[in-house]
Amino acid sequence: MVEPSTFSRPDEKKKFVRDKFSAISGRYDLLNSLLSLQIDRYWRWKTTRLLRQFPTGPVLDLCAGTLPLSLELTRQARERRVLAVDFCEDMLKNGKKALPSDNRKDRIFPVCGDGEEIPAPADTFYGCTVAFGVRNLARTLQGLGEMYRVLRPGGKLLILEFSRPTNPLIKPVYSFYLNKVLPWVAGLVSGDKEAYEYLASSIAGFYEPEVLLAMMREAGFTQVERKPLSFGIVSIYIGSK
Ligand SMILES: C[S@@+](CC[C@H](N)C(=O)[O-])C[C@H]1O[C@@H](n2cnc3c(N)ncnc32)[C@H](O)[C@@H]1O
Repeated sequence: MVEPSTFSRPDEKKKFVRDKFSAISGRYDLLNSLLSLQIDRYWRWKTTRLLRQFPTGPVLDLCAGTLPLSLELTRQARERRVLAVDFCEDMLKNGKKALPSDNRKDRIFPVCGDGEEIPAPADTFYGCTVAFGVRNLARTLQGLGEMYRVLRPGGKLLILEFSRPTNPLIKPVYSFYLNKVLPWVAGLVSGDKEAYEYLASSIAGFYEPEVLLAMMREAGFTQVERKPLSFGIVSIYIGSK
């Protein structure tokens, strides 16, 4: 089992995370739908709706992976342009292969880059989304500072991330699913059980919501708030520049 505390240096975590996503990149979308019973679509839809005041963009989709959120961002607004940044080339490649033939493929610009040193000038984007990526950053505050830097004044940050349900009925069921069922099924389908053990331990070891909200404030964000979804299995964290 890979505990988040296993990494003593940021570079070690970056290498581990990049290699793991590279190894599962071909099966990532299938596993996502399978393991979340497609509820992830609803979570992405909810997140994207919060950017409806910026229908054209540009929007930054950070840790974009195989581009599921970039697709939703461009589906909900027909003129919106999205820069999709991820440091794992294989995740982006698989996302590009699966882009639909409509004009969304001309409005999504995938770029290989590090979320802790975003390859874009200051004050560029109306919105920045990060779906299931912040937990994977090696230096969270550095990443949040970069998100703040590249947003325009008035721009909005939306972080969609796993949190931990507190409902006493849901909590044990979810914990059993996350620690036992998920790595086993994911191991069978992806051939890489360790990647999904990391998923479980990284969720367990991630900051409490209040701590992440405090870090967002420290990075400069205002009007910071959290919206729990699906019994708090995930949360949307919102901040403004
Ligand atoms: C769980 S996937 C999420 C992908 C996608 N956003 C989604 O909603 O399914 C996390 C992604 O974060 C990327 N990632 C992790 N650390 C990163 C960093 N420092 N810079 C850029 N991408 C990073 C990984 O390569 C991976 O593709």
